[in-house]
Amino acid sequence: MSSVLITPVDPASASFDADLQRWYDVYLAVTLDGRPGDAAPWPLPEVRDFVSTPTGFRWCGAWLATREGEAVGAGLLDLPLSSNRTMANVSVLVLPAARRTGVGSALLEVLEREAAARGRTLVLGEVEFGIDVPDEGAAEPGLLFARSHGYAVGQADFQRRLDLPVDAALLDRLAAEAAPHHAAYELVSWRGPVPDDLAARYAALASQLLVEAPTGDLEIEGEDPSVAALREREAARVRQGTSVWHTVALTAEGELVAHTVVAVSEHNRELCEQWGTLVRSDHRGHRLGLAVKVANHRALQADGPPAKQIATWNATVNDHMAAINEQLGFHRVGRLVEVQKQI
Ligand SMILES: CC(C)(COP(=O)(O)OP(=O)(O)OC[C@H]1O[C@@H](n2cnc3c(N)ncnc32)[C@H](O)[C@@H]1OP(=O)(O)O)[C@@H](O)C(=O)NCCC(=O)NCCS
Repeated sequence: MSSVLITPVDPASASFDADLQRWYDVYLAVTLDGRPGDAAPWPLPEVRDFVSTPTGFRWCGAWLATREGEAVGAGLLDLPLSSNRTMANVSVLVLPAARRTGVGSALLEVLEREAAARGRTLVLGEVEFGIDVPDEGAAEPGLLFARSHGYAVGQADFQRRLDLPVDAALLDRLAAEAAPHHAAYELVSWRGPVPDDLAARYAALASQLLVEAPTGDLEIEGEDPSVAALREREAARVRQGTSVWHTVALTAEGELVAHTVVAVSEHNRELCEQWGTLVRSDHRGHRLGLAVKVANHRALQADGPPAKQIATWNATVNDHMAAINEQLGFHRVGRLVEVQKQI
């Protein structure tokens, strides 16, 4: 077996476009392989942006694995810059025909070395597979690979999906059921950037999602709560062709205590994504989680059908969020297992 060559996909190189396309071809083939019902790959323009446009909140590097000139593997290193500065997210993908020949290990070695050189001590990865895979994925190559490299499971998530549009009568019924419980709050929905007058309050709440949602054994900090960081993330979404719909809940005093966001990519008319939903802990128990989601779906659908389906990921232990999603009609299609290792 000839040796594997691992090369960076360098945005400064004249061959960047071609190299990125080769990287993406591997990424897409592996992500779609055997997972017709649950794969949710990033569109190429999104990957191009996060690999080539520097931001203050994220650094991403891509590497291509070749053998005798043929692309056989793809690696991605994704580093948060404004919080979680000891953390690195890695993705390792190897074409099925090239597996068990050391390609994945060679890629992971480069990613871990680069992560360490950039001051990272905690490396996280994700393994995704369909809901029908037996034994919670015990025989999944990604999990066996991760374990063989010293990674432990930190948390497991379900991916759920819902066909769109959601029946308007169901949204009306759920909204009516929730309304008496949150009469003291005002719901506000909009599409696009957070309005200036809400930005500081929004950023403070949304930055806590990573720590407020169940994180299992993962060691994660909140994100940068500044408005500047919020605006930078919004600008990245615009470059990537992603539109967002928000709904928030405000108290009579104007505190912003709940939010939800749905993201729609102009590059994917099949699938859009339900991102974070958070109700501040001292305002739980008023059906605000359901209320903001229902209001957001109404706003989304008022603007026309965004995609054929919507996907969302929740920790398997997140019973409250799961119950809300199931009321809306979401059903389980896949699993995502998050693994981690100290380096
Ligand atoms: C996981 C993946 C990257 C492994 O790539 P690979 O090139 O086959 O990995 P390697 O050949 O370097 O395997 C290293 C070790 O991992 C373990 N391993 C990997 N795949 C395995 C499998 N299917 N069954 C049992 N052990 C396996 C073995 O210990 C293997 O060493 P060995 O072949 O000497 O026994 C590849 O299967 C893949 O792309 N899967 C889908 C994406 C994914 O889940 N990525 C991992 C999360 S980031």
